[in-house]
Amino acid sequence: MLSKYRTCTRLVKSVQKDSLRSISSQEVIAKEEKYAAHNYHPLPVVLSKAKGAVVWDVEGKKYFDYLSGYSANNFGHCHPKIVEALRTQAGILHHTSRAFFNDVLGEYAEKITKLFGYDKVLPMNTGVEADDTACKLARKWGYRKKKIPNNQAKIIFCSDNFWGRSLAAVSASTDPSSFEGYGPYMPGFSCVPFNDLKALETALSDPHVCGFMVEPIQGEAGIKVPDEGYLKGIRQLCDKYNVLWIADEIQTGLGRTGKRLAIDHENVLPDILVLGKALGGGVYPVSAALANDPVMLVIEPGTHGSTFGGNPLACKVAIAALDVLENEKIAANAAKLGDIFRSELNSRLNKKVIIEIRGKGLMNAVVINRNYADAWNVCLKLKENGLIAKQTHEDVIRFAPALVITEEELYQSIEIIVNTINSIPS
Ligand SMILES: Cc1ncc(COP(=O)(O)O)c(C=O)c1O
Repeated sequence: MLSKYRTCTRLVKSVQKDSLRSISSQEVIAKEEKYAAHNYHPLPVVLSKAKGAVVWDVEGKKYFDYLSGYSANNFGHCHPKIVEALRTQAGILHHTSRAFFNDVLGEYAEKITKLFGYDKVLPMNTGVEADDTACKLARKWGYRKKKIPNNQAKIIFCSDNFWGRSLAAVSASTDPSSFEGYGPYMPGFSCVPFNDLKALETALSDPHVCGFMVEPIQGEAGIKVPDEGYLKGIRQLCDKYNVLWIADEIQTGLGRTGKRLAIDHENVLPDILVLGKALGGGVYPVSAALANDPVMLVIEPGTHGSTFGGNPLACKVAIAALDVLENEKIAANAAKLGDIFRSELNSRLNKKVIIEIRGKGLMNAVVINRNYADAWNVCLKLKENGLIAKQTHEDVIRFAPALVITEEELYQSIEIIVNTINSIPS
């Protein structure tokens, strides 16, 4: 009888153990490789839990997260106020479509427009959709207000721009890995060099130009910070030639550079402001194009839209994210810790291996001397040492932790970065 009981409990335990056995990193990677498209080349780390500026892999190893979901997680992983907003609204009313009014969109629209100083917001979901919306606004404004002959409007971008993966976005790209193989491309798009006001003036003097779209700091290009005065210069040139300035703050916005917006470093206001990523608190895709009435009202009912844009769940999440941004002094923390980060790396990193350290707030990058290492291998070593980051090109590593990172966590991560990079033979 006793032996029967023992066999039975052993069996139950082994079944329990089997069902509780957590899947290994290798198994997850193999499954994803087999069943998911190969449009990314992830670092070999499988994350299963996160809090604030820190993540854990399926084996329980802890890492500082220096990508922050490509800056969607500015307010940290699982921020309690943002998660609470998501949970609560999901149980009340999550989606209606804009065929009807919902009782949250108006509240959100008032909040975001007052915070950023625009008459109206056009809600979308992903960044590329909001940028595309901005381009549509500029073209329509060009025909209606600037009287550009039909179908001849032009939009100017900067070389090395990045605004997503749609056909329009890759048509504006100068990076072959983005655009090659996807032609034919959108007409009426062209590029000038970034941080070059002279080239911009030449381009804008063409009377068919309706818009100029630019990131105040180029993110995917490798955290390229323009000279002081560039943003003011853009504002003046766009005024002079009656061209709409579209600022893509999808990556630079919402505290990342140490101000609420990167344009605040020069106190200028674009005609169209585009936000995304952290606007959804990292928990939900929320993006927005903001503009004043003379621009926004060129879009009339039925001429633009999105099934999910402006849904009550998105709006509540964005309200919570904006509250966190303002109430928790997120931008001030990014400014203070960003200064510490750059000054520590500048004084401690081996200057033979690291050619440049650049950035603003907590949007930073190091440029690696290719004679000694490449960025991918350095990211692998950083991962082994407990910090995950991603290269943007073969020689640039972006460091963009959650803006809620504490000073203690920042110093701990600086130790990892310095030890890893300074162990590269030079
Ligand atoms: C500046 C900028 N604009 C637009 C986008 C596109 O955003 P999404 O991937 O949400 O479409 C990105 C994404 O990295 C970005 O960095």
